[in-house]
Amino acid sequence: MPRPCSHYPVTDFTYFATAAKGLEEVLAGELRALGTDEVAPVSGGVHFRGGRADGYRACLWLRTANRVLQPVATFPCHSAEQLYEGVRSCPWEEFLNPGMTLALDASVRDSVLTHSRFAALKGKDAIVDRLRDHYGQRPDIDTVAPDLPVNLHIHKNHCTVSLDLAGEGLHRRGYRLERTAAPLRETLAAGLLLLSDWDGSTPFVDPMCGSGTLPIEAALLATRTAPGLARTFAFQKWPGFDARAWQALRDEAHQLRRPAAAMIVGADRDPRALVAARDNASRQQAAGGIIWDRSDFSRLTPPPAPGVLFCNPPYGERLKDDGALDTLYRSMGDTLKQRWTGWTAWLLTGNLDAAKRIGLKATRRIPLWNGPLECRLLKYELY
Ligand SMILES: C[S@@+](CC[C@H](N)C(=O)[O-])C[C@H]1O[C@@H](n2cnc3c(N)ncnc32)[C@H](O)[C@@H]1O
Repeated sequence: MPRPCSHYPVTDFTYFATAAKGLEEVLAGELRALGTDEVAPVSGGVHFRGGRADGYRACLWLRTANRVLQPVATFPCHSAEQLYEGVRSCPWEEFLNPGMTLALDASVRDSVLTHSRFAALKGKDAIVDRLRDHYGQRPDIDTVAPDLPVNLHIHKNHCTVSLDLAGEGLHRRGYRLERTAAPLRETLAAGLLLLSDWDGSTPFVDPMCGSGTLPIEAALLATRTAPGLARTFAFQKWPGFDARAWQALRDEAHQLRRPAAAMIVGADRDPRALVAARDNASRQQAAGGIIWDRSDFSRLTPPPAPGVLFCNPPYGERLKDDGALDTLYRSMGDTLKQRWTGWTAWLLTGNLDAAKRIGLKATRRIPLWNGPLECRLLKYELY
């Protein structure tokens, strides 16, 4: 039998914040730092419990989460009929007023139902049918910016139906419109910084900054700026939205902001990358103090030590010539040894063979996933 809407309506919700593989513990740490009780990391995300405002706070403050989901039903799902009935049994009329738009996305794994698009369509039919019966009119579908984004997760013939609080993924902070080749996801960039325990009190340099993601995320962290402060979220359009609680959270976030204590530098040898990075930074107030420098890494002058250097060099998927990649990594190693004494360097790479050319011993090697690419975050202490 379907077990619909077991968590609704109640004052406490169970939430699930999703994260890139490898960042679950970092995300759990972020939630604990926000004062969230009952935090349970699992592969792909973190379960946590809290009231409505805790869901809002999570969207506003979490740097490494991709989404914050609020499960509203969970039931066995061995067939399309079970899926339809399970989804239809939720009180969608409580979540969606007439005139609001809807969209569904689905993921399916190790189940009788194998097609996520089919599952999403079946789920959408169930919601639309229920709302048409209730209101006498069907809701519109908006796949770009729906008022109510719904997520279906079917795993081992078990379906979880969730409301997606943010709508657009949380990596969309509102500043990055310009992209260069292979930009890091904002949430992964923030995860690297949190893994390093950099607290903003020493200089930060990214000598291969591309579109500027790492320096801009560093500026957000150093100035204690909530990453969601410059955007809106789907939950703001939901029935029962607590506008007063949301305003209080935003006011608190504004008050917590502080000036950056140390220099943040983004450099790249490619002038187009610098244009994109500057442009992105111009859309984020916290990034106003970043120093941008067009330079080859080998010629970049480090600020006085100690400091942290973060670098996301090319991995070579596009550089077909392995020799060129080896030369680049070898030259990076030489530069670090000769010019960056007293610094701590963190490198994210998906090319471990090339990383050997650096010729320095990593004191930490953290496995992380950059999209589909398995990577390592390597730490070097440059004595
Ligand atoms: C993978 S991209 C970095 C992407 C960046 N993290 C982002 O989020 O947009 C690598 C960058 O390294 C730069 N680069 C490659 N070799 C360099 C060198 N020797 N000195 C400075 N920049 C270099 C490239 O121009 C490119 O922008």
